[in-house]
Amino acid sequence: MDPKGKATLSYAGKTAEFPVYGGTIGPDVIDIRKLYGGTGAFTYDPGFLSTASCSSKITYIDGDEGVLLYRGYPIEQLATNCDFLEVCYLLLNGELPNKDQKDKFDYTVTRHTMVHEQLARLFQGFRRDSHPMAVMVGVVGALSAFYHDSLDITNPEHREISAYRLIAKLPTIVAMAYKYNMGQPFIYPKNALGYTPNFMRMMFGVPAEDYKQNDVLNRALDRILILHADHEQNASTSTVRLAGSSGANPFACIASGIACLWGPAHGGANEAALQMLIDIEKEGGLAKVGEFIKKAKDKNSGVKLMGFGHRVYKNYDPRAKLMQETTREVLAEVGAENDPLLKLAMALEKIALEDDYFVSRKLYPNVDFYSGIVQRALGIPTSMFTCIFSMARTVGWIAQWNEMISDPEQKIGRPRQLYTGAAKRDVTPMAKRK
Ligand code: CMC
Repeated sequence: MDPKGKATLSYAGKTAEFPVYGGTIGPDVIDIRKLYGGTGAFTYDPGFLSTASCSSKITYIDGDEGVLLYRGYPIEQLATNCDFLEVCYLLLNGELPNKDQKDKFDYTVTRHTMVHEQLARLFQGFRRDSHPMAVMVGVVGALSAFYHDSLDITNPEHREISAYRLIAKLPTIVAMAYKYNMGQPFIYPKNALGYTPNFMRMMFGVPAEDYKQNDVLNRALDRILILHADHEQNASTSTVRLAGSSGANPFACIASGIACLWGPAHGGANEAALQMLIDIEKEGGLAKVGEFIKKAKDKNSGVKLMGFGHRVYKNYDPRAKLMQETTREVLAEVGAENDPLLKLAMALEKIALEDDYFVSRKLYPNVDFYSGIVQRALGIPTSMFTCIFSMARTVGWIAQWNEMISDPEQKIGRPRQLYTGAAKRDVTPMAKRK
């Protein structure tokens, strides 16, 4: 990459120059890799508010304009014209597949959907009432104990087969986590079915009767997967990249991404957003919206409007619009058009979008504001929401991990710090300590 200019920094009587690079779109970056060598100072950026940790060709977000592109394609077009596996192919390979490529990709993914029987037995070691995300972290991490044949991360073929295994097995593992929790038998994958119908059957089918597919519900879940497939350098993706930077195997890296995703400020937010709506409904519903908004604005209340605000989007999250559309379709299909939680969500959204607190801080609905309502209507229990998110995001994590491993500029991730602890001091013998 050739620099497009330079930036000059004066500090402690020294002046240093740094190359400036421009991306295809989006802000320029100042390359400060030689800052410490040149000036003896570090940058300080907790939460990475102004730090580009890598260069990437996969996903682009314009948070001010509310734009999300996968490999250059707007999320709205992908969500309307493509299925999830098409989007997986795009994220992994950089281009949309033609018919032959798509057929081959689908075929290969479906050939990896089963898990080793011994992995199925691993579930017995978890308490039945464990949170399914706790099970996911353990079981996905354990995959590396089953696939010693593909753990050489320097070998592109190993990386490719690991990618197929992860994309194919995640739905099976998510459904198993649910079935285990329910005390129902695991339902084996059926490869004649597409990715999403197969998952729905593994989740909701029982051996005692045939599972009846519903196209509207399948399409809704497929869209949820597309909307969550990647989101550039978010917390869990950065976790995957950081874990992978040490040379850790892909199964271990994806398990670390799942662990990070679980947090309520990230993937756990849809669970928290739905719970918030249920709580408000219990306390009086629409009549209590004003009171709740007041609490959300009060820093001392410890209450936030969950599903609102985003580190990058300072405008309406484009995924939230698509999710709202899908929510209406699913509620109509299941005969719940008058769902009080939808009404509540829309009332909260309306007030927040007009309230100076939210407007001045550019807090808009994010993807999680509606995804809980739609998943509940699909029959997915709240505790499984983040598992569905991890199933969708797995492809993004792998694409990003693969890009990092192939990047000649890749180094082990090793941030520095501003040390504020005690300066060097001597140990006082125990007898003399106060
Ligand atoms: N409700 C009330 N106030 C809020 C909210 C909210 N949901 N979000 C941010 N604020 C306030 C915050 O208190 C701060 O106010 P002030 O400037 O007066 O101190 C200001 O808005 C800026 O917030 P911030 O916490 O500095 O922003 P951030 O970029 O660090 O945090 C966030 C982003 C998503 C963690 C935060 O908005 C939040 O906690 N939202 C609720 C949880 C949520 O919905 N998370 C899902 C994110 S989208 C899914 C994903 O991509 O993983």
